[in-house]
Amino acid sequence: MEGKAGTSLLLHGVSGIEADRVLLVGLGKEREFREKEYRSAIATAVRQLNETGGFDGTVFLTDLPVRKRDVSWKIRQAALVAQETLYRFERLKSKKEAVRRPLRKLTFCVARRNELAAAELALAQGMAMGAGVELAKDLGNLPGNICTPTYLAEQARQLAASHGLGVDILDRADMEKLGMNTLLSVARGSHEPPKFIVIRHLGGPVGAKPVVLVGKGITFDSGGISLKPGAEMDEMKYDMCGAASVLGTLKSIAIMQLPLNVIGVIPSTENMPGGAATKPGDVITSMSGQTVEILNTDAEGRLILCDALTYVERFEPQCVVDIATLTGACVIALGHVATGLLANNEGLAKELLDAGQEAYDRAWQMPLWDDYQEQLKSNFADMANIGGKPAGTITAACFLARFTEKYQWAHLDIAGTAWRSGKDKGATGRPVPLLSQFLIDRANAARETDGKRGRR
Ligand code: BES
Ligand code: MN
Ligand code: ZN
Repeated sequence: MEGKAGTSLLLHGVSGIEADRVLLVGLGKEREFREKEYRSAIATAVRQLNETGGFDGTVFLTDLPVRKRDVSWKIRQAALVAQETLYRFERLKSKKEAVRRPLRKLTFCVARRNELAAAELALAQGMAMGAGVELAKDLGNLPGNICTPTYLAEQARQLAASHGLGVDILDRADMEKLGMNTLLSVARGSHEPPKFIVIRHLGGPVGAKPVVLVGKGITFDSGGISLKPGAEMDEMKYDMCGAASVLGTLKSIAIMQLPLNVIGVIPSTENMPGGAATKPGDVITSMSGQTVEILNTDAEGRLILCDALTYVERFEPQCVVDIATLTGACVIALGHVATGLLANNEGLAKELLDAGQEAYDRAWQMPLWDDYQEQLKSNFADMANIGGKPAGTITAACFLARFTEKYQWAHLDIAGTAWRSGKDKGATGRPVPLLSQFLIDRANAARETDGKRGRR
């Protein structure tokens, strides 16, 4: 064996070794061994182990040195990557291709006993994040005829029931009473009833201000009257991946029992053409009172998010993060590697960027300068819902920024990162790791300030 990255070799009956089989994994050049290489070595090991027919395996790769990464990072990542590698979405196939004798148990090794406590915590965190990622992937992969707004609401109810969370589902009549007209304007073309989901994890002190996560829940985006072209339109079933990441993150932090108050909010509807659908040129009054000229019905994400962002003011949030497959322009700008990040607060932006680095679920910041606001000018309303070709991701965020002036806010554009196209088409579960890490870090920070207060 040469040791090339991605290669492996299974040995049987190695003398002097207790295990029946030994799997060697190629790691490539030592000085090129970084985070990415570590993750793929774990993936190779888990994939091969799963196919050996063995019941359990012990992984020693976790005590390899990875530059600037400690044992917690290595274990958390190993747990995440292992779950990622073993994920299959087969519930809609009549014949399952499942491995005959799948791996049932994995043990990760650390080099020193004094690393055990940190490693065990990291393992629990990695498993919790993995469960959240799995939920987000399942919901993302389900097609629009199954994963409707009603289905998402039902999933939120079940998640709440099984994990001790609070949940409220608002229906069309409730939204009408609240004046959520931009959200409802998107729902007009569809026969599926829209839902507005609120799910609460109140693990923090009573009365402590919550972190609010808002996820775009378009269960299918046809574009509406501004109909999308046919090619790859099926992928618009993924337009609820922001919503899925909110539910996934709530699951992950509920499992970890994070001592933090977190509220997830999901505006959900289809975007369809139809006789009652909103037309280009229509002017709608949003819940905030600001009026919007709809120049393109395919820019619907911002229309459902803006009412949700107004609604969340009632929670007096510590901060609000929205997550949305918002713009094709973000795919052009950052490809499928980095999530787009825009924020009205630099401290919050930094926290999210750092969490993304730690979770290896990275984001990259774009400017939210006022200069871009001009592009949203309308002759007939307070603003238009599109800002033209240039800087499409930024003008979409500029639109949202007009509804978030009352609190600290950040926006994650996951259009390029929430799913993969082509041969390996499927949801990625991103940015559940980033968001979970962000909340772990917030919980730790809160614990530290409480500790200091106690000592005084
Ligand atoms: N859901 C799409 C964004 C999208 C497009 C995500 C392609 C992933 C891949 C969104 O609702 C949309 O249609 N945005 C338009 C905005 C435009 C009309 C200003 C877009 O990006 O083309
Ligand atoms: Mn659209
Ligand atoms: Zn959309």
